[in-house]
Formats: sequence, structure tokens, C-alpha cells
Amino acid sequence: MSDLRFHITPGGSLSGRVRVPGDKSISHRSIMLGSLAEGVTRVTGFLEGEDSLATLAAFRAMGVAIEGPDAGRVTVHGVGLHGLRAPPGPLYLGNSGTSMRLMSGLLAGQAFTTVLTGDPSLSGRPMKRVVDPLVSMGARIDATERGTAPLTIHGGCTLRGIDYAMPVASAQVKSSLLLAGLYAQGKTCVTEPAPTRDHTERMLAGMGYPVERSDARACLAGGHALGAIDIDVPADISSAAFFLVGASIAPGSDLVLEHVGMNPTRTGVIDILRRMGASIEVSNAHDVGGEPVADLRVRAAALHGIDIPPALVPLAIDEFPAIFVAAACAGGRTVLTGAGELRVKESDRIQVMADGLRALGVQARPTPDGMIIEGGSIGAGRVDSHGDHRIAMAFAMAALRAQGAIEISDCANVNTSFPGFVGLAGRAGLTITRRD
Ligand code: S3P
Repeated sequence: MSDLRFHITPGGSLSGRVRVPGDKSISHRSIMLGSLAEGVTRVTGFLEGEDSLATLAAFRAMGVAIEGPDAGRVTVHGVGLHGLRAPPGPLYLGNSGTSMRLMSGLLAGQAFTTVLTGDPSLSGRPMKRVVDPLVSMGARIDATERGTAPLTIHGGCTLRGIDYAMPVASAQVKSSLLLAGLYAQGKTCVTEPAPTRDHTERMLAGMGYPVERSDARACLAGGHALGAIDIDVPADISSAAFFLVGASIAPGSDLVLEHVGMNPTRTGVIDILRRMGASIEVSNAHDVGGEPVADLRVRAAALHGIDIPPALVPLAIDEFPAIFVAAACAGGRTVLTGAGELRVKESDRIQVMADGLRALGVQARPTPDGMIIEGGSIGAGRVDSHGDHRIAMAFAMAALRAQGAIEISDCANVNTSFPGFVGLAGRAGLTITRRD
């Protein structure tokens, strides 16, 4: 556990114009697919956070020449689908579930063996969800008895396409299988129980790889090539979410978030906050390289509790720590169900958020697949983020409506997705300081 703490003075409001860092999901995929493409992929707006940097370092270790990052610019000299080389040792992926799950699929099709490792949080997260279907494609993968990392992905296997109905709505599982499918004989199809983020399908198609898509299904056949492209990574809506909540709950706020990714598989947080009464205006909507972006203006509003529609859960899966803080400030009760996946994120986000909210005097009752929160006032005190970046940033925003100071422990992992959070939040109006 790191001893980096955030200390936030209560009150204040958020205003001005801010651009939060680049989208984490798209940044990972820009390195992975750029490496497998033929030609030079130029990326702008790349997230220089520890998670996407772990992916970048892993592909460098597999022989890909990558320049940058320099102010969000990265140049990837693609080696083609069969140009990766065996890394000199295990690939350490830190806190990053996306790196580990997507790379498991991609590496299952290589001629060489790789070992994937991670930090204690990542080493406790379920990997059988990718290992089992990959093994049914012909991959050979060793995990621990508990189905966790380290993973040894054996090289030299012949993969066959499968038709897989995912038991959980997971973009990481879908993407992992599609990436293995690039190397498989025949067709690989993945059907999802509910729509999940589709950045992999969009980027593959943008690079000229044939992908068939219908409502809940994506298919591709092995044996085609990827062509290099320019990728402009939008600001991450999952990072913007903290500011959407902060400006909604803090009286007097009026904040514009610029160039935010508005992929419809990611905008559940906007729908949920609007249902709670939030004022969020969308302007300047346009497309960049196959991904929609827009500016968002958010003003303070009186929020009310709602029953969150289960259909919106996968479309806001990373935003619940922030949404729980909005619920704590809303009038009445908010009920979340159908979100058991939150228990296997970077921390058990249901338990850790419930503990933190209670420590601040909020009535929050965790359930196996969600939470019931009675809105009211937020007290003051100490909260443990359990090393989970999104928990730390959500509680930082809670201070805008708290009765006293909030101190949050174990905050170093904020750098996995949002480097510069303290400075940017401070410029927008949060009185936040770091305490080492
Ligand atoms: C991600 C998918 C989601 C999300 C994660 C990033 C991705 O995970 O929680 O932060 O980039 O594909 P699941 O697909 O496991 O829900």
C-alpha cells in the first residue's frame, strides 16, 4: 500500500474549461493494434497513465519500435500480425486488467511463450473468463489454481475460431477473443448479453480489417491484415465522470469538459445523471477517426435518487464510484442492481464504496449485486481507497458537499488512469492537496 493521501477542504465549486486525459481503453488498443499493423500508426491524445504505459512497455519488450509518449504523441512502427518477438522476460502489467485480458488473446496466437504478471490487485482478479474460451480455441494457458495471474501463454498453438456466447457483459473478454481470432483458422464470433464498449471492433474496422457486426454479435475471420492509421484519442469519459458529478453536486458550478469521447457504449453515466436531474449540455459533437466526441457543459443541479435501469449498467460500468457520490448528495433513495461485476474491478467497488460512504455518515447498504443509498448530507473524515484509482477520485469530489475535510488514503494508483488529477481538479476549483 502506498502512503500517498489526498486531503480535500470542504466546499467550493467547479468552473472553467478542462480537458481530462485521453481515453484509457482506446489508448491500450492504439498500441496493441498499431503494433500489429503494417506501417506507422501516429497517435495523439494518448493517455500517459501507468496502465496504458504498461501496454506500451510490453510491446516495446516484444520488439516494436515505439516513439514517445511526448505530450500525448506516440508513433508506433507496426511489425505486422506475425512480427512480434519473444520478450526477454515476464511482462509486468501493473494494475491493468485491460492489458492482461486483451494481451492474453493476442499472445495466444504467437509462435513464442509469454508470462504475464501484475500487482496484487491484478493478481487477484478473475482470468478464467478469458482463459476458458481461449483454451477452447486451442490455446494453452497456465494460471494459478484460483484462475488468476501469473499467466503463462504458450506459443506455437494452432487456434480455431469459435462461436462464443459470453456469460458476463465484458468488453475485455470480447476483445480478447477477437484478438485471438486474428490468428485463428476460420471465423470467431462473440455474442454479448448486453452491449459493451466496442472500441476494438471500431479500430479493427478503421484499420481495414473485415469485422461483421450485428446487434449483440461481432465476428471476424483470421488471415487478413491491419493497415496503420492516425488515431486521435478523445478525452476519457470515465475521467470526465468525476467532474460531471462534482459540478452537479457543488452549488454554483458551471464547467465545460472538452473533446470527451461519446461512444454510445460509454455514455451511461450521462443518462444516469440526467435521470437524477443533472444539467448536462452536449455541444460541438463530431467524429474523430470513427469515435464520436463532444464538449459537455455541466451546471450544478438539485439531484434526486432513482432506481438505476439495469440496462445502463454495462454502459457506465467504471463510473459507479462517482455515481454513488452523486446518489449520496441526491434527495431520496438510489437503488443499483445487476452490477455484481463491480465486485471484481480494481477493488470490490461495492464494499469499498459502501465502507467509505458510511465512514462519512451516509446510509449506504451494499447488496450482492449493487447498493442502496439514502441521499442526504456528507460528513467528514477519513476514507480508504484500497488502492483503487476511481474510488480515490470519487471521494475527492464528495468533499465539494462535505461538512468537513476528507482525507483519502492509498491514492498512488490515480496515476494509472488520470495523471495530473490533483492539478487539474485544483484548477477547476477543488481545494485538494497531496500528502506523502
Ligand atoms: C475495459 C472494459 C471494462 C472496463 C475496463 C476497461 C476495456 O471491463 O471496466 O476499465 O478497455 O475493454 P470489463 O470488460 O471487464 O467490464
